[in-house]
Amino acid sequence: MMRANIRAGAGSAAAAFTLAAALLTMAAPAVRAHEASHHAPGAAAASGGKDAAPSARTSRNRYGANYFPNVELTTHLGTKVRLYDDLLKGKSVAINVMFTDCKDVCPLETAMLGEVQKILGERVGKDIFFYSLSIDPERDTPQVLKAYAEKFGAGPGWLFLTGKMEDIKLVTQKLGLLRAREAETRDGHSAVLVVGDEPSGQWTRKHALDNPRFLAAMLGTFFGWRDEQPQPSYAQARPMEYQNGQYLFQSRCSACHSVGQGQGDKVGPDLRDVTTRRERAWLTRYIQFPDRVLAARDPIATALFEKFRVRMPNLELSRDEVAAVISYLESRSSDLRVQANKRPLPAR
Ligand code: HEC
Repeated sequence: MMRANIRAGAGSAAAAFTLAAALLTMAAPAVRAHEASHHAPGAAAASGGKDAAPSARTSRNRYGANYFPNVELTTHLGTKVRLYDDLLKGKSVAINVMFTDCKDVCPLETAMLGEVQKILGERVGKDIFFYSLSIDPERDTPQVLKAYAEKFGAGPGWLFLTGKMEDIKLVTQKLGLLRAREAETRDGHSAVLVVGDEPSGQWTRKHALDNPRFLAAMLGTFFGWRDEQPQPSYAQARPMEYQNGQYLFQSRCSACHSVGQGQGDKVGPDLRDVTTRRERAWLTRYIQFPDRVLAARDPIATALFEKFRVRMPNLELSRDEVAAVISYLESRSSDLRVQANKRPLPAR
């Protein structure tokens, strides 16, 4: 119910020209139009954008202390922080909304951010801060968020935040994180990452389910990080054909699952040999409707959930897509078996 409230509230609060509005005017094309990453909505554009001297930019920055409510939030570590003073002021940030009980794509979003964090390494917590704001703050106590953050391997520089419902509502409105219809997920939050540099007042939005390598490279471009390793181009980052099982696996599953190669379990179980471990009918149904299978108290799904404590999301795959991803898992597992057999036997 709470989430329904947030949505209704967001709908009626479209009054003033806010950062939210500024971000939304560019949202339709920009959420997917990656070239737009330099676009600076609102203030930054008006003040001369990237080329203006920092002091000039700062003084004319509309998205500063007067814009952001300095509400008190609590981190997953139990620390009280102020939105503007502690989280935004003087920092580069990437912010999304989530809630731990999500049965939809938000765990994928969190897992993708986890991959971006790995790629950016030490920059996170130094050059950029990640904030994941719970829109279900009553359920998502600091303790619940802490367990979730650990599950997704959130390191220092990535805070999960909770607070008073009304404050969260205000913050998400100001950030334009609730009204992006085109990117809205079934439970009413948007799979969007709002990215900003508070000192220069430059803000933009990215689709949070983009390829993590590509997202990381875009952040580097947006913030003008110089000493970057040359990043593979977008074309290289996606060599696989659309719709094929490998592509689906890489884009929708690999943030949470590995297939062999000694990586062990990530957020979810390693899927090597899952096609022999489970019956085909079960596997097909589970990959397509994990939420329903779990809700029906299927014993395997229940045991897995008890072990992993993160819900396998319903990714809305079609039957064909499920079949494609299963045949990818099958061929990958059999390749690994062949490789294992080819390994030279140890000398006696
Ligand atoms: C956000 C993380 C996440 C994503 C994304 C995800 N999964 Fe999962 N998956 C899990 C978790 C966690 C489990 C363990 C069950 C649970 O906790 O609900 C699981 C369980 C499974 C299982 C059962 C494994 C077994 O041992 O029987 C299969 C099969 C599976 N996932 C396939 C997929 C496929 C295919 C995709 C992509 C289309 C995918 N998953 C995407 C997290 C994820």
